Amino acid sequence: MGAPMKALVYNGAFDVAVEDVPDATIEQPTDAVVRITSTNICGSDLHMYEGRTDMETGRVLGHENMGVVEAVGAGVDRLKVGDRVSLPFNVACGSCETCVEGKTGFCLRANQAGTAGAAFGFAAMGEYAGGQAELLRVPWADFNALVLPEGTDKELDYTMLSDIFPTGWHGVQLSGFTPGDSVVVWGAGPVGLMAAHSARIRGAAEVFVVDKQPDRLELVRKAGATPVDYSAGDPVQQIMELTGGRGVDRGVEAIGYQAHDAHGEEDPSMVLNQLVGVVKATGGIGVVGIYLPQDPGASDDLAKQGKIAFDYGTFWFKGQTMGTGQCNVKAYNVKLRNLITAGVATPSFIVSHELDLGQAADAYQRFDRRDQGWTKVVLHPGELTAR
Ligand SMILES: NC(=O)c1ccc[n+]([C@@H]2O[C@H](COP(=O)([O-])OP(=O)(O)OC[C@H]3O[C@@H](n4cnc5c(N)ncnc54)[C@H](O)[C@@H]3O)[C@@H](O)[C@H]2O)c1
Ligand SMILES: [Zn+2]
Ligand SMILES: [Zn+2]
Repeated sequence: MGAPMKALVYNGAFDVAVEDVPDATIEQPTDAVVRITSTNICGSDLHMYEGRTDMETGRVLGHENMGVVEAVGAGVDRLKVGDRVSLPFNVACGSCETCVEGKTGFCLRANQAGTAGAAFGFAAMGEYAGGQAELLRVPWADFNALVLPEGTDKELDYTMLSDIFPTGWHGVQLSGFTPGDSVVVWGAGPVGLMAAHSARIRGAAEVFVVDKQPDRLELVRKAGATPVDYSAGDPVQQIMELTGGRGVDRGVEAIGYQAHDAHGEEDPSMVLNQLVGVVKATGGIGVVGIYLPQDPGASDDLAKQGKIAFDYGTFWFKGQTMGTGQCNVKAYNVKLRNLITAGVATPSFIVSHELDLGQAADAYQRFDRRDQGWTKVVLHPGELTAR
C-alpha cells in the first residue's frame, strides 16, 4: 500500500468530496496503474450524484479516464510504463463470449455481481473504483487500454475517447444509419452533441438536435446541425415542418430516464414516443440515454419498476427498429482516435471547463444544475498536460 491519493468520493445524494483514499495498486498480474491526466464528469455521473441509482457510498466516481501508465503487472506485455492511454469506461475481460464478439459493454466476467457489463466508478457495473483520482487501477490492461500518440497534443480531443465520442457514434450506429440519411438527436448534452458530430462526419444529409438550453443549442450550431428548441413548441411538429412532413430517417435518444418536459417535469416515456412519431416508417432509433431496470425515485408507479409507457403499436405499425444499451467503446475507439489524430474529428468543441480535481465537488453541482455554459467538465488531477 503506497501513500494516500486524492479521489472524488460519493458520500450520498448530492454529496461528493475529494478525500484521501488508498493509492491504486497492481492487484492482479494483468493490471496496470495509470496516472490520470484528464477525467471528465458525465451525465451518467449525475444519475448517481442525484441519488437515482444504487451507487454505494464510499465509492470513487469517474469512468471517462485517460493518463500515463505508471506501473504494469507481471502479466502485461503490450503496455509500457510511460504510454499515454485512453481507458474505455467499460471494464472488459477480452476473452468471454461477448467480448470476443466485440461487445465489450456486456462482458460476462468483469462484473462481480454476475450481470453483463462492467465499468469504472459506476452503479451496478462492478466494484471498480473510478478515475476521478490521481491514480486508477486498470484490470486486463493490455486488452482495455488504447495507446495514444505520445506527448500532450489534443488532450481535450483524446479525452472524449473513453466514453462520449464513441457513445455518440454508437447511437448513430444503433439507429441503422447509412450515409445520406437525415438524423434527429434528442438531447444536446455532451452525448447528443457527440452524436451530431458523428452523424456529420459519417455523411448525414441533415442533422437536427432537440434541447431547450440556449447554450447547448448554440453548440448544436457549432456541430453543423440545426437546433430545435422544445420549449418553443412541440418538437415533433417543428421537425415535421422542417422536413416537409416527411420526418427523418434516423433518431438518436441521448437523454435517458430523467428526461423532462419543458417545465422540468420528469417523464421517461415522452422522448421515446416523440422519436417514434418523427422517424419515418421503416426508419431506426438508437437509444444511448440510460434506462434502468428499477427506478425507486421515479414519480410514477410504472417507472418505479423500470417500465415505460411506450407507443409500441405505432412503433410496430411503422416497421421501425430500435437498438439500445451501453456503448462498446473498444468497437470504435481505434478508428475514432485516428479521426482525431488526422484532424477530421474535433470532439473537444464541447469542453467548457478545465479544472483541478479539488474543484470537482463544485463542478458536479453546477453541471448537475445545467448552469449556463457548463457543458463538459474536464478534471486534471495531476500535471496539467495540455492546457
Ligand atoms: N449508453 C452509453 O454507453 C452511455 C454513455 C454515456 C452516457 N450515457 C447516457 O446518455 C445520457 C446523456 O448524457 P449527457 O452526458 O449528454 O447528459 P446531460 O444530462 O448533460 O444531457 C442531457 C440533455 O438532455 C436535455 N433534455 C432533457 N429532457 C429533454 C427533452 N424532453 N427533450 C430534449 N432534450 C431534453 C437536457 O437539457 C440536457 O441538455 C445520460 O442518460 C447518460 O447516462 C450513456
Ligand atoms: Zn460517461
Ligand atoms: Zn469479457
